[in-house]
Amino acid sequence: MLKQLMATALLVGLSLPAWSADMANGQRINKSCALCHGSHGQGASGKLSPRIAGLPKEYLIKAMKDYVEGTRVYPLMVRTSQIDKFTEADYRDVAAYLSSLDLSSDEMFNISSRIGGEVDEGKDIFNSDCKNCHNRDGYGKASKEAPPLAGQHPEYLYTTMRNFKQKTRIHANDEEDDTFEDYTDPDFINLTAYLATLDDKRIVPGYAFEPPLYRPSFARPSRDQLDDKIQITDIKQTVVRMALDKDVTTEMAEEAMIAKAEEIGLKKVAQQKVSQFLARQDVEMPHLSIFQFCNPLDARLMVIADPVFSSYMPCRISMVEDGEGKLWLMMLNLDMLINSKMMPAEVIETAIRVNQQMLDVMAAGASGKSGS
Ligand code: HEC
Ligand code: HEC
Repeated sequence: MLKQLMATALLVGLSLPAWSADMANGQRINKSCALCHGSHGQGASGKLSPRIAGLPKEYLIKAMKDYVEGTRVYPLMVRTSQIDKFTEADYRDVAAYLSSLDLSSDEMFNISSRIGGEVDEGKDIFNSDCKNCHNRDGYGKASKEAPPLAGQHPEYLYTTMRNFKQKTRIHANDEEDDTFEDYTDPDFINLTAYLATLDDKRIVPGYAFEPPLYRPSFARPSRDQLDDKIQITDIKQTVVRMALDKDVTTEMAEEAMIAKAEEIGLKKVAQQKVSQFLARQDVEMPHLSIFQFCNPLDARLMVIADPVFSSYMPCRISMVEDGEGKLWLMMLNLDMLINSKMMPAEVIETAIRVNQQMLDVMAAGASGKSGS
């Protein structure tokens, strides 16, 4: 049926409709986003992980490209997921996949604001200054290219509005936009409080979100193509990796990682120079060294929440040489740490922060520079 439709579309010279996105490819790419955004794109409270599930495809694609082009700034995301190496199809596929995930009816994913504020005051501001573009229900308007604000995490919204005011991010795609100029901090808090209530109406009691499962159905890219692009290995998709930049030696990478870890308060608790150790016994092997990092206070919080987390501690990064002599940094994809919906918010925030710190250390190693 699908084939027939596509053939018809080709015959009559139409471009393929939007549903021709390869959802299996989108789901696969999403594994690398899950490190920070959660495996269903649900995000988490705290400004470091906006919800991306359910956002319109066009907005998702635009946002990703904004980060690649530097209109929006978050280099760690570009580096970790290598979105600057995406093909147009990759952008489309991952956007279609994320866009299809509707979490808003599931009470478990309901957004609530922890930062206080007056809902009614926020509502007044919203209705006079925002609803024209973001829609009365807060779910955005495609015709204005305005994304949903309902269902987004409050801390991210709050931080973003302050960024608009400080002009570190452009609002409404208009450099001259002055929407946020006269708002005070309490206004932002009130707006945030109101926005956090908007997704409540979509909840369907008893409804539980089930992630879809897509099987690859079209011709797959070859392994070689995948190798440079996607950072999650296909095997079990449990590993995240970054190649060392050209000209970065193992010594430079090591130095940069250790300096970065120190800067952000991670303790290097161990380092095993496996290949160097064997070399002293005249046993040859590709380069392998393993670094272990830990922040004792974070470790404490995590094991109190669930002793199971101790099995991921301390966090490890390995530096390893492949068959072609190319050097990689690898670590476990710790996305599962942020998926447990029943965890207290501060535990999830900690898990995300630890993930991002480990990625920061890897990014420093891969570039050989500890400065950002
Ligand atoms: C290293 C962590 C990290 C990874 C990996 C990551 N992101 Fe992000 N992403 C973030 C953070 C943090 C922000 C918010 C940055 C800001 O304030 O602008 C963000 C913002 C976004 C936004 C903008 C959201 C909005 O409401 O405007 C989109 C879209 C997005 N990411 C998509 C993706 C996709 C798709 C992937 C995977 C291909 C991905 N991200 C991988 C951390 C990450
Ligand atoms: C003229 C139309 C317009 C009006 C009015 C408007 N917005 Fe926006 N807003 C946009 C557009 C377009 C974007 C997306 C910009 C982009 O792609 O980066 C946006 C983005 C945002 C974002 C970022 C969402 C995200 O996921 O990162 C927030 C927060 C926001 N607006 C809040 C508001 C609030 C609060 C008001 C009222 C005080 C408001 N906007 C009024 C058009 C508008």
